[in-house]
Amino acid sequence: MQTSAGAPVMGGISTSQSPPFAVPIRYMLFGVICFGLFAIDFAFQSSTFAHGVPGTPSVVALTHALTLGALLSFVMGAVYQLTTVAFLVPIASVTAARWNFWIYLIGVVGLFTSMSRWWPLGLLVFGFVTVISLYLYCAVMLTSLAKTKVRGPMFGFVLSAHAYLILAVSVAVLLVLADSGYVPTLDLAIGQLIATHIVLAAGGFFTFLILGFSLKLLPMFTLAHGFSTWRQKWTLRLAHVSVWVIIAAIWVAIPLLFWLGAICGLLTLLIHLWDMWAIIKNRMRKKVEWPILGVVSAVVMGFFGLCLFLLRLFWHGGEAGWQTIVMFYMLGVVTMTVMGFAYKIVPFLIWTKRHSRAQATRQGNPILISDLIDVRRSRPVFIGLIAGIIAGTTAASVSWAPGVIGGCMVIGLAIVMFSVQMLRVLKLPTLRKELFRHD
Ligand code: HEM
Repeated sequence: MQTSAGAPVMGGISTSQSPPFAVPIRYMLFGVICFGLFAIDFAFQSSTFAHGVPGTPSVVALTHALTLGALLSFVMGAVYQLTTVAFLVPIASVTAARWNFWIYLIGVVGLFTSMSRWWPLGLLVFGFVTVISLYLYCAVMLTSLAKTKVRGPMFGFVLSAHAYLILAVSVAVLLVLADSGYVPTLDLAIGQLIATHIVLAAGGFFTFLILGFSLKLLPMFTLAHGFSTWRQKWTLRLAHVSVWVIIAAIWVAIPLLFWLGAICGLLTLLIHLWDMWAIIKNRMRKKVEWPILGVVSAVVMGFFGLCLFLLRLFWHGGEAGWQTIVMFYMLGVVTMTVMGFAYKIVPFLIWTKRHSRAQATRQGNPILISDLIDVRRSRPVFIGLIAGIIAGTTAASVSWAPGVIGGCMVIGLAIVMFSVQMLRVLKLPTLRKELFRHD
């Protein structure tokens, strides 16, 4: 973290308990590379989206390149780092976190390949490898969290997020068994299983983690104090109700329950927006930076995503309609939040590693975090992402293929820009040496 003058503030996102640099940065690097690869594949597959073919192997693979390769990998690295700051405990096993990266890498690359070719044996083998590495990640996190004395809604959000990840991954096991043809009876409930898997993973894991860590990171990056926190426990309760009511609706197929769940979700996001506004109003930093605006916009996008969900209950757009809403949520909410925080977290980690102890190095002046990246460069990325998502979704709702393709291209371009900016901060030749030195 920096003051408005660009000088680092004590504390920030590193403490003496933080894991070695190589642990979080390796997950983040893999995440950033997958963001770029996803963006290129997304642009290439735009015509498939334009014709709305849900369940196409290449699209399922693409979804997981984003969710597992880019988002979850980056998030795991960030969580390993931030847990030590937010909960004041070291992570339970650095060795497990370090080795688990390689298991995860093998699992995700294999799963992506198996999904793109719909290779049943590969789905089974690499699906299980990925599942095992995610269980291991959750075990490390839950053991770490068990030791913290920091309680309250943030703890509740992060703890629940990991419980939801275990459930989402457990449902993925059933999907893998069904899709690989080993337990064909599961095909009878494949629609419900896929929907439950998505709600648990996107609504449970990612949303809870985003809400929880925002409560810590927003005040930290805006230097806010003295805002009220009493609403946070209501956000947590409503978010749980929303997830479980929607899951119940999926299985008992009662439309009213979908409505109830979505309304609880809308209230959750509204209260969270109120909290974010209160934090930003009580900030000490003069300007609100673009990455922070990106994080706030992501919650606004989440609100519109849930409105689309409600509209979809009226207008039956088939499976393709659901697929558009899921993509809207994954890109507009989860991806945008992760990007917003990445603009703050990655430069800080690199600066702490390379420059915090170094003497004057740039024309006699110390290197500041703002020398690593000018965060105003995130502006075209966020604008492009929002414009592409809105244009693509609108075009998809009226089945206008050129609009969907154009929207996907703009989204792809914005994500590639983000990826390139992050890779420039990471400086691959230097990073390569640093990572080799740690093994
Ligand atoms: C936590 C992160 C995850 C998220 C956000 C996620 C999200 C999704 C989404 C959105 C779909 C629907 C795809 C589509 O029809 O286009 C899906 C389906 C699926 N996912 Fe995941 N997923 C996650 C983790 C996993 C894991 C770890 C596995 C495997 C071990 C997995 C296996 C599957 C399978 C087999 C399908 C069903 C494909 C089909 O039959 O059409 N997912 N997931």
